[in-house]
Amino acid sequence: MTERRVTVTAERPYDVIIGGGVRQQLTDLISPWARVAVFYPEPLTTVAQCLLANRSGVHLFCLPDAEAAKTPEILAAAWRGLAQVGLTRDDVILSLGGGATTDVTGFIAATWLRGVDYISVPTTVLAMADAAVGGKTGVNLPEGKNLVGAFYEPRAVLCDLDLLQDLPSREVVSGLAEIIKCGLIADSQITNLVVQNPAEACQVSSDRFADILSRAIQVKADVVSGDFREAVAAGGQIGREALNYGHTLAHAIEQQTAFSWRHGEAVSVGLVWAAAVAQRLGLLTPAEAELHRRLLAAVGLPVSYQATPWNDLRPIMSRDKKARGHSLRLVLLDGLNNPVIRSDVDEMVLADAYRALAG
Ligand SMILES: NC(=O)c1ccc[n+]([C@@H]2O[C@H](COP(=O)([O-])OP(=O)(O)OC[C@H]3O[C@@H](n4cnc5c(N)ncnc54)[C@H](O)[C@@H]3O)[C@@H](O)[C@H]2O)c1
Repeated sequence: MTERRVTVTAERPYDVIIGGGVRQQLTDLISPWARVAVFYPEPLTTVAQCLLANRSGVHLFCLPDAEAAKTPEILAAAWRGLAQVGLTRDDVILSLGGGATTDVTGFIAATWLRGVDYISVPTTVLAMADAAVGGKTGVNLPEGKNLVGAFYEPRAVLCDLDLLQDLPSREVVSGLAEIIKCGLIADSQITNLVVQNPAEACQVSSDRFADILSRAIQVKADVVSGDFREAVAAGGQIGREALNYGHTLAHAIEQQTAFSWRHGEAVSVGLVWAAAVAQRLGLLTPAEAELHRRLLAAVGLPVSYQATPWNDLRPIMSRDKKARGHSLRLVLLDGLNNPVIRSDVDEMVLADAYRALAG
C-alpha cells in the first residue's frame, strides 16, 4: 500500500501521513526533541510500550479510556505528571489513541508551559478522519461536551492503518460516517468509491479504504486551512462550519440516547435528515437525497430513527453550540458538494423531514 500525505496549511503547516506501518517513522520524526511524553488509553498499553522501545527519554502516561479521559481532573493529574518529570519546551508530547485521547492530549500540549510541541498518532477511523486533524482540542464538563478547549495544531499526524486491525467493526463503521460526510460536502470521488464497493470500503487494509480516508483528510485539511478558528461563520458565509453537516440533529440524538449511540451513527441519521430538509426546500433532487441514505446504509450505518418524538428533540437542537437564538443554523447542501447555511427553514419542513426518518 502506498503512503499518502496531506498537508494542512492553517497557522503552521504540518503533514498528515497515512499508510500501513507509518508509525515506524516516529523515531526519526521525534529525533529533534530531547524527551517524549506519550499519552495513551489503558487498552493501548502494549502498543504504547512498543512504540518507542528503542528510544531513551520516553515517559509513558496512561489515561482512562475514552471519554473518561476528557475531564478537568485528568488534565490536572497530567499537568502534575509532566511537572514531576520536568518536561520542558525542548521536549514533545505525543498522543496515541482515539479522538478522546487526541482531544485531551492536544489540550495538555496547548496548555503545558503555555504550549509545547505535539505529535498525534490517532488509532480510530474517527480520530484519523476527523478528531486528530484540524487543531480542535478540549475536555468535557458535567455541564456539556467539549466546553473547554483550544485551537492547537500538531507538528505532525501519523495515521498508521495497521493500528486499525483490532478496532471493533462498529467503531470502523462509525468513523465512515465522517468520511462519507466529507464526500457529500466536497468530494464526489469519495462517494463513488463507497458506492462501487461498500464492503471493501469498510476493510481497513484495503486500498479503497486508504483512498477514501486520505481524501476525507484532504477535505478537512482544505476546510480548516481556509478557516482555522471558525471565524468565517457569519450570515450566509460558510467556512469550517461546513464540517458540521449532519451534526445538528446528531448532537441532539447523542444527548437523547445518553451517548449510547456512537458519534458516527448519530451523524448518519443527521445526514439523512439534512438531505430530507434540503429535498423539501428544492435544494437537492430526490435522487441526491436518496444517495445519502443508500451510501450510509450500504456500509451498515443507521438511516432511520424513531426513538424520540420531534417535540422532545427540537428543543435540544436549539441548545446546540452552533445555534443562534431559537432559529437553527443548518448546514444544507444546495446540490452535492455545495454546502450552504440556512437559518430560516420553516419549522414544518424540519418536522416533516424528521417524519421521513421513521424508516
Ligand atoms: N477535535 C475534533 O475536531 C473532534 C472531532 C470529532 C470527534 N472528536 C472527539 O473524539 C472523541 C471520539 O473519538 P473516538 O470515536 O475515536 O472514540 P474514543 O477515543 O473514545 O475511542 C473509542 C474506543 O476505541 C478504543 N480504541 C482506540 N484505538 C483502538 C485500536 N486501534 N484498536 C482497538 N481499540 C481502540 C478506545 O480505547 C476506546 O475504547 C469524542 O470525544 C469527540 O468529542 C473531536
